Amino acid sequence: MAKRALITGITGQDGSYLAELLLSKGYEVHGLIRRASTFNTSRIDHLYVDPHSPDARLFLHYGDLSDGARLVTLLSSIDPDEVYNLAAQSHVRVSFDEPEHTADTTGTGTIRMLEAVRLSGVKTRFYQASSSELYGATLPPQNESTPFYPRSPYAVAKLYGFWITRNYREAYGMFAVNGILFNHESPRRGETFVTRKITRAVAAIKAGKQDYVYLGNLDAVRDWGYAPEYVEGMWRMMQAEEPDDYVLATGVGITVREFVEIAFERAGLDWEKYVRFDERYLRPTEVDALIGDNSRARQKLGWSPTIDGRGLARLMVDADIEALPHAGHPWIDKVRLESWITPTFSNAGMA
Ligand code: NAP
Ligand code: GDD
Repeated sequence: MAKRALITGITGQDGSYLAELLLSKGYEVHGLIRRASTFNTSRIDHLYVDPHSPDARLFLHYGDLSDGARLVTLLSSIDPDEVYNLAAQSHVRVSFDEPEHTADTTGTGTIRMLEAVRLSGVKTRFYQASSSELYGATLPPQNESTPFYPRSPYAVAKLYGFWITRNYREAYGMFAVNGILFNHESPRRGETFVTRKITRAVAAIKAGKQDYVYLGNLDAVRDWGYAPEYVEGMWRMMQAEEPDDYVLATGVGITVREFVEIAFERAGLDWEKYVRFDERYLRPTEVDALIGDNSRARQKLGWSPTIDGRGLARLMVDADIEALPHAGHPWIDKVRLESWITPTFSNAGMA
């Protein structure tokens, strides 16, 4: 019998790669999608097979992490072997503009999923998308024993998700795991995260379609890895004999500035001519440095990443240069879209 998985957040970067991975392993995959007035499935369209076809192994269901009753109904009817809870309002900067919404989806959404598993009575393993943002102000290197010090409404909501997942493991004996994932990127990365914002800008500037890119703090250090390798790590956590929490990271940290330099250099451009500062992209409380220690995942799961931030900068620039001619006007419109982010918050007293 093929295993059955449910993925929340299947339309996101990680959800799309995870769906691909599970389908390639013979799973029947179910995905939760939000009803929107426009199509939001572009990352998984290539996987779609008409559900009337006998070959269909991917099934999409409308639902939302804010709707607990719907989640119970879905869990009961799908009866999955594995649930991957990837859905979230996942943008740190936006979480300062929408703290309540972020708490409701990213934090409370996790307990709604866990309760849906418990109340429906299905026997499933549960993966929670936890984050290196939990470490916040705690200095690197960070591993599973490092104390948490979250620095944004997003990270505080993820802290709740982390502990409630662990609590359900201990209280109800659920096979529930936290993947504490450091930043991971790809050509499918959302356009307003810094790596993709930079690599799309490089492509557009190279093609003469954009003059500058406006960025915030270039001094932040991140441990960037490659998303397809990270979803493979998620799957490995779910196949382990015992449930546990794991850090996935490359162990290599670079600054945003270095990522910028490498990305522009890849296209033969001098970054200093094109990068401008805009304070709207600063956060009231910044996370200065995240660099992960992945020893436990290496030893217990045999997981080892091969691409770090420097390799990613080149890979993503190449992909965006390749994609630009096929993108048409929406490409440029999306670049402008980010400038609609709320311009300012008061920095006073928010060191
Ligand atoms: P993403 O691209 O932003 O995708 C988020 C997904 O969640 C999308 O499918 C989105 O649907 C869905 N979603 C948002 N709110 C929802 C709601 N209320 N109900 C149902 N679905 C909802 O994020 P990602 O980069 O793939 O990350 C996946 C997960 O890992 C997230 O929980 C994120 O916080 C966490 N994480 C990510 C990283 C990273 O570096 N990528 C690192 C650590 C942890 P729409 O497509 O309709 O918007
Ligand atoms: N988004 C953005 N836009 N970030 C900028 C910009 C800009 O114009 N300029 C500088 N940065 C800096 C941010 O201040 C931050 O220090 C760093 O670039 C990375 O920002 P993001 O790419 O937005 O990612 P993040 O680290 O805040 O959060 C991502 O990784 C987390 C795991 O550590 C998200 O994917 C989260 O969902 C995830 O949990």
